[in-house]
Amino acid sequence: MRSFVATSTILVTSLNLVLAQTLITVNLNSTLQEIDGFGVSQAFGRAEEFYDLASGPRQQGLDYLFSTSTGAGLTIIRNRIGSGGSGDSILPNSPGSPSGTPQYVWDGDDSGQVWFSKQAMSYGVNTIYADAWSAPGFMKTNGNQDNGGWLCGVTGESCSSGDWRQPYANFLTQYVKYYLQEGIPVTHLGFLNEPDYVQAASFIPTLYNTLKSASLSNVSITCCDSIGWPGQRTMTSALVSAGMEQYLGVITSHAYNGDPDTPLSTKLKTWETEAADLNSAWCATWYSNGGPCEGLTWANKINIGIVNANLSAYLYWEGVEVNEPQASSYLVASDGNTVTPSGRLWAFAMWSRFIRPGALRLSTSGSVSGVGIGAFKNTDGTVVVVFTNTGSGAQSVKITLSGFTPSSAAAYLTDNTHQVASTAATLSGGAVTVSVPAYSVVTVTLRNGGSPPPSQGPTTTAQPPTTTATSPVSTTTAPSGIHGMYDLRSWVYMQVLECLVFTMFVTQRSCISGKICYFVSSAV
Ligand SMILES: *[C@@H]1O[C@H](CO)[C@@H](O)[C@H](O)[C@H]1NC(C)=O
Ligand SMILES: *[C@@H]1O[C@H](CO)[C@@H](O)[C@H](O)[C@H]1NC(C)=O
Ligand SMILES: *[C@@H]1O[C@H](CO)[C@@H](O)[C@H](O)[C@H]1NC(C)=O
Repeated sequence: MRSFVATSTILVTSLNLVLAQTLITVNLNSTLQEIDGFGVSQAFGRAEEFYDLASGPRQQGLDYLFSTSTGAGLTIIRNRIGSGGSGDSILPNSPGSPSGTPQYVWDGDDSGQVWFSKQAMSYGVNTIYADAWSAPGFMKTNGNQDNGGWLCGVTGESCSSGDWRQPYANFLTQYVKYYLQEGIPVTHLGFLNEPDYVQAASFIPTLYNTLKSASLSNVSITCCDSIGWPGQRTMTSALVSAGMEQYLGVITSHAYNGDPDTPLSTKLKTWETEAADLNSAWCATWYSNGGPCEGLTWANKINIGIVNANLSAYLYWEGVEVNEPQASSYLVASDGNTVTPSGRLWAFAMWSRFIRPGALRLSTSGSVSGVGIGAFKNTDGTVVVVFTNTGSGAQSVKITLSGFTPSSAAAYLTDNTHQVASTAATLSGGAVTVSVPAYSVVTVTLRNGGSPPPSQGPTTTAQPPTTTATSPVSTTTAPSGIHGMYDLRSWVYMQVLECLVFTMFVTQRSCISGKICYFVSSAV
């Protein structure tokens, strides 16, 4: 790629700042990965508690998540396929043996996730990721949905009760059918968290063929929701070697012990499907010192994931949580009466409101000190460029485009005092100039004459409520870290000795700095 960097050729004096104007070029003829979107989950009862809010805050919470004019405009939701007892799973009781007739039950609610899915769809969301954290306990070597164990019948794991791979594939397929019955087409199906690849490989073809027999080949199978990018890199290589790419739709990973930073070696799309700040108390801050709960920190993670790691989707952990003191593991907080967005929500908005599903990433040339640059072309023809300035200096950037002549330009700014606020974009001679303040994200949208008006972006300059630096929920309760049964919901903090002792009893764990350990059960 040729470089078009022209540094310091033009000096602009503004508000006592002297900004070196930097030139970047967006190349419309060089398209990269397709973007599927950005999203959250309301798993483990969070959909139900969201639904239980009064209609005012409930509506406001939905708008914060999904509205393209006052919220983040998220486009993916991740639902949990329950594997527990009555009220949690569609198969609460064992049919006795793998060949027994399963007694499925459907309550039409699925812990509030049917409601949540329909609400998301009413905003245009059509990527529904249904994800099982575990197989039902009676299908596993340890007889429990928690605490590790393996699906009976996968390579190296036999049970006296038999081989449960086909019943598990049937169970997952039945869940998809119940959602279809509710008018909710599941598009992506995950069957485990943190598997050993060999075991996964000995189940994936069964699931693929079961979906196919049910005329549901249009559902993409995902794998493997590893706890972090390094682990998923290892699993991906192994899955590719085992010939699994032909059955899979998307490679998925969480980002807890390693953020997506470089591409995985696969021709499949890759998604980051669960990330959050689980350590800090709730914070709504955009930028203070680059801490783990801050909006700009997450804007930068998204930027690196999409631009450097070739991601097609980026999901935070939970969306709205009610009276939850734990950490900054969700984007919108509610005390039961009001809802308050975080800086992290606006970080997602700067991407998801403007870069819509089906957009293609574009190559760019040129660089701006301290600024990440992502460029995209939407299916409606609009071009979007996102600048993530983690530096302490303001920048002026001139954008030229190869293969596209803009007829109009708009720009939006998020920093400590703005949330997706209109900011100046100067169009002249086919090039666009914008200022990118220190510690900010600026998203530029460009269209040419032939394009219809964009569906994304504010239609007025009215701004969402200013809510920086507020702390809406009580943080008096000590963070529990326990949200449910396994995966991150069973993670614990402990010192290194306890960690070593504890890990003798769990299947998989990862420790960071010898102090923070995640204990993860395996669904398969
Ligand atoms: C997948 O195909 C089924 C028909 O077998 C259809 O009902 C469903 O809507 C399709 N799902 C999607 C996401 O298109
Ligand atoms: C990026 O992902 C796409 C799939 O979305 C894949 O085809 C392509 O090879 C990947 N590029 C790199 C550099 O890994
Ligand atoms: C880029 O693509 C457009 C049409 O898509 C074409 O007209 C133009 O010549 C191409 N430019 C280059 C440099 O390939």
